[in-house]
Amino acid sequence: MGLDLGSQVVKAVEITLEGPEPVITGFARVEIPPGGDRGAAIAEAFKKGRFRSKNVVTSVSGQSVVVRYVSMPRMSENELRQAIRIEADRYVPFELDEVKLDCQPLSRRPQKGTETDPNDKEQMSVLLVACRLQTLEEQVKAVLGQGLAPQAVDVDVFALANAWELCGLPEEAKEGEQEKGVALIDVGHVRTSINVLCGGETCFSREIGIGGHDMTQAVARRLGIELHEAENLKRNPGEQEAELQRAIAPVLEDLTSEITLSLDFVEHHEGLRVEEILLSGGGILAPGAITYIEQATARTARAWNPIEGLRIAVDRVDVEELEAWTSSLAVAVGLASRVRAA
Ligand SMILES: Nc1ncnc2c1ncn2[C@@H]1O[C@H](COP(=O)(O)OP(=O)(O)OP(=O)(O)O)[C@@H](O)[C@H]1O
Ligand SMILES: [Mg+2]
Repeated sequence: MGLDLGSQVVKAVEITLEGPEPVITGFARVEIPPGGDRGAAIAEAFKKGRFRSKNVVTSVSGQSVVVRYVSMPRMSENELRQAIRIEADRYVPFELDEVKLDCQPLSRRPQKGTETDPNDKEQMSVLLVACRLQTLEEQVKAVLGQGLAPQAVDVDVFALANAWELCGLPEEAKEGEQEKGVALIDVGHVRTSINVLCGGETCFSREIGIGGHDMTQAVARRLGIELHEAENLKRNPGEQEAELQRAIAPVLEDLTSEITLSLDFVEHHEGLRVEEILLSGGGILAPGAITYIEQATARTARAWNPIEGLRIAVDRVDVEELEAWTSSLAVAVGLASRVRAA
């Protein structure tokens, strides 16, 4: 089960392997009311979802997580695990005994702009992740407190990539697409997560501290209404749609300028073109948001359905609700997709 503990919405998706086929066998989405308790939302999600499994994968995001793409001399994975602490000391702004470190060699070699020559076969790219232990422990405690069995803790941006891989391009397309990038962008409540894939592998990721909450605040300010009224209006603008779009435009402008900066950086650094943006997260449901992002970034952008093509156990899942929220489920689906590796 993938449990996405978002800052506004708890999302849980259960995937069961039926033979080799991943099937969605459970789903729940519970909003945390303002000032409400996340633990209660998790408990409600488990009541609603009628899940079979207690095995849960969660994720972290935000300022307790540091992700770096570093260039290192080529070495075995064992050697890398030894060497990574020394490397981490240079890149991680926390005390090393207060973090959990992990790393993963990448198949793409370091590109332009790094200290090393891209043709140097003696170098490799390594993904380095550090997360504050306190954050991990709090999360594991929250999961254990619900009587669940935590299996792994991922990072939101990488869960996006795993969701993409679950129903994404076939192998041959990945190989043929070395010079084309696809950007997975999840616009949540308080943050936007970006992961750019090249040949199916992450080559850049970043979080921007802008999301749906900023849109709601902008609406409340412009229209002089309370936050909860602004939230309702954002979701059901009716005849006020044009006014609403004007109110959220400055937020989308800030967001897209950060996205564009990131994509330009990747393109320059990696020597590729990011052709397509796949959008997820509740924030993209705001009126006009997708069109705005598409126009402002001058790239093809569309809402991403991370469960497209997956079979749904209709006897166990509220299909109508699931389909209404598919684009919010990318992180949860990516977390659940680890069932394939279990
Ligand atoms: N119909 C809608 N129209 C506009 N915005 C919506 C709609 N439905 C949900 N949202 C917004 O989506 C956001 C929640 O999305 P999501 O579930 O992706 O966030 P989250 O995962 O809880 O947040 P984060 O990832 O930042 O921790 C909220 O800001 C909410 O206002
Ligand atoms: Mg989220």
